[in-house]
Amino acid sequence: MCGIVGYIGKKKQAAPILLEGLEKLEYRGYDSAGIAVINNGEINFAKAKGRLRVLSEKTNGGKDLIGCAGIGHTRWATHGEPSDINSHPHLSQSGRFAVVHNGIIENYMELKEKLIRKGFEFISETDTEVIAHLFEYYYKGDIMDTMIKVIDRVEGSYALGVLCSDYPDSFIAVRKASPMIIGIGNDENFVASDVTAILKHTRQVCYVEDNEIVVLTADDVKIYNTDKEELEKEIKTIDWDVSAAEKGGYEHFMIKEIEEQPKAIRATISPRIKDGKIVLDDVSLTKDDIKNLRKIFIVACGSAYHVGVVGKYVIEKMCRIPVECVIASEFRYSDPIVSKNDLVIVISQSGETADSLEALKVAKNRGARVLSIVNVVGSAIANASDDVIYTWAGPEIAVATTKAYSTQLTVMYLLSIYMAEKISTITSGQYKKYLEDLEKLPDLVAKTLENKEQIAYLASKFYNCHSIFFIGRNLDYAVSLEGSLKLKEISYIHSEAYAAGELKHGTISLIEDGTLVVALATVDDLFEKTVSNIKEVTTRGAVVMGLTTEDRSMTGIADYTIQIPNTNDIFLPSLTVIPLQLFGYYVAANKGCDIDKPRNLAKSVTVE
Ligand code: AGP
Repeated sequence: MCGIVGYIGKKKQAAPILLEGLEKLEYRGYDSAGIAVINNGEINFAKAKGRLRVLSEKTNGGKDLIGCAGIGHTRWATHGEPSDINSHPHLSQSGRFAVVHNGIIENYMELKEKLIRKGFEFISETDTEVIAHLFEYYYKGDIMDTMIKVIDRVEGSYALGVLCSDYPDSFIAVRKASPMIIGIGNDENFVASDVTAILKHTRQVCYVEDNEIVVLTADDVKIYNTDKEELEKEIKTIDWDVSAAEKGGYEHFMIKEIEEQPKAIRATISPRIKDGKIVLDDVSLTKDDIKNLRKIFIVACGSAYHVGVVGKYVIEKMCRIPVECVIASEFRYSDPIVSKNDLVIVISQSGETADSLEALKVAKNRGARVLSIVNVVGSAIANASDDVIYTWAGPEIAVATTKAYSTQLTVMYLLSIYMAEKISTITSGQYKKYLEDLEKLPDLVAKTLENKEQIAYLASKFYNCHSIFFIGRNLDYAVSLEGSLKLKEISYIHSEAYAAGELKHGTISLIEDGTLVVALATVDDLFEKTVSNIKEVTTRGAVVMGLTTEDRSMTGIADYTIQIPNTNDIFLPSLTVIPLQLFGYYVAANKGCDIDKPRNLAKSVTVE
């Protein structure tokens, strides 16, 4: 996810306004930024790796770029790591066009190869640069005709802002599947990824739909369809404050990111399943590499570690390769028995967690191959790995991870199925069925999210608890770890996750009248076993909140039951975790906690 902004006016300088707008969009991506401004028929630009302030310092707060029309971009890298060259805007070879883009061009390699054959030279690793050269390639003097040809050739998602030096008094924009709004001012007009970027200047906006082409001048804004017919659009008045707008109208980033999970999971899965096959371009593991693996270690911290616990069950079930999931800070000081025939998977949202990075170095120093699952392109862990599979969750602002956790889970599924197919520990029929079920997951997550009211009600009943237990077996145990952490870190209520079969070996002594036990019972062939464990705690006075699939009943077993849609057992953790994220969120909201920035915590722990 990135942020784009565009400005055109009669008198005011564009650059400072663009920088201001980008500052409001940094939550959409902040690894690099750039602006381009048109002046006397010439496009001048500046771009910089790092936070926006680097660009601002580089351009003297925008004063060094003169002109009343321009475009800007703040980046969350997906193709090509953060660098000056990979930052937007991208210019065409002649310098006639400058382009900013939010989205992913799925057929950029095909287009890039064609343009190179036509003599175009690329300087960046991005997908977006293709668009700048396509404008040059198709341009015959009419920018609108050129735009129509370009969007006809491009596949994927985009919100584009385009400057053309032949059109100094206007610029053009279009969107498909990425958000874009138009701001209507007095003698000035705006385009942006969302209202936060322009709210200071105007509250009059209109929302652009897919394949609508916008032509902005200082005096007016015209919107056309691809037949060049002008469209009538409703102008709306925004009544949000800036802070609410940054969260897209949600009260907290955390709930926004919980709601974004279907989209984040789809963005992570879809580009990796092509023609019924899993395609992991970033992974160089061969069939023989996998066949010769002695062991797989999964090393991570916190929620990423909890993904690893799920991964252990999934990989061992599918690939029959021994997997050991180890907390990174323990792994690095345990003198681990790891060597060249081992694969070490490091999972990290930030890609900067010190414990995980140091554990990675220990593994590499002992000859192991390292594959990392990371959400930040070009981060330290990604750069230190032999292979990287990126999650495409977009920037995660809330300290308590949700969408990054969920996309890490889906990468774990993809990798497990990919390896199992390579070494034939699953049949082609199973492979096909896994992929079918995996592609349905985003919609099932969306369906699970619909149950917010029941979860909010339960949170209102239990937010004063002093201690809450989460229990489950197998994959349910793995998810109970995450449910317990979510609750603890944002509501500050003590909580423990326990393997349901282990409770009776000591901890059950803590159960007393009214103790809340959240019992996960989704794993089909362990349901009865878990029910036995539930009875052990109810006989000692516990109140039980059961969580199971919609085809099962827990009436007479649990005091309250949350049901989730059914799917392949292997993928159930992606659904089971949703009510637990929501429960932690609503409990913390009832307690009035600082949900996005919980006390004592940081989004990325870059110290030991
Ligand atoms: C999760 O909600 C926490 N914020 C924390 O446990 C986090 O998962 C852990 O610090 C690992 O961070 P990373 O994924 O960026 O490496």
